[in-house]
Amino acid sequence: MRLPSLCCAVLTLLISTTTFAQDLMPMAGGNMGNPMPKNVEDNRQVVLLTAEERSIVAAEMRQMLASVQGVTDGLSRGDMQAVIAAASESGMAMMQNLPSPIRMKFPAPFSQMGLATHRAFDQIAQEAKTIKDPAPVLKQLSGGIQNCIACHATYRFASPKSNNGM
Ligand code: HEC
Repeated sequence: MRLPSLCCAVLTLLISTTTFAQDLMPMAGGNMGNPMPKNVEDNRQVVLLTAEERSIVAAEMRQMLASVQGVTDGLSRGDMQAVIAAASESGMAMMQNLPSPIRMKFPAPFSQMGLATHRAFDQIAQEAKTIKDPAPVLKQLSGGIQNCIACHATYRFASPKSNNGM
């Protein structure tokens, strides 16, 4: 590396670390960000589940998030086998494995959104078997994620005893 370009590199490094340090300054100055807003309300409808039931459903939710990641990662690498594997983890089989006492506690619209989501994952797996272009699969995934968003906006879980979501 010649001297001028070395100087340039050192200067750039200096400037970027200084900018970074400035970003952290407000914290150091005692300003810890925004205060808590007042009157925070969660108006979502409650689905009553015991702690155990909730654990089971939450584990499935985390699996679905992992499937979303696996599908997008597979698509980004053009690895359709990975897409199929990731999507299949969250297909209809997942719903069928859910113990029926839990399923019976779900309100009908909740079950329908769940069904649509699992079906979307199966369709993604099916589509990925024949399609090489990631765009239509991404479109399907995006449609499936709309169910996640809609259901999360409408429902929350709470335990019958405390009723506070814990
Ligand atoms: C049929 C309704 C429904 C659908 C569809 C749904 N979720 Fe959820 N999910 C919930 C509810 C309710 C909670 C708990 C929210 C609460 O109590 O605050 C939750 C919680 C979660 C959590 C947190 C789990 C934990 O460990 O606490 C993750 C992650 C999650 N969902 C991911 C997803 C993803 C990804 C999708 C779509 C692929 C999805 N969910 C679709 C209803 C749904």
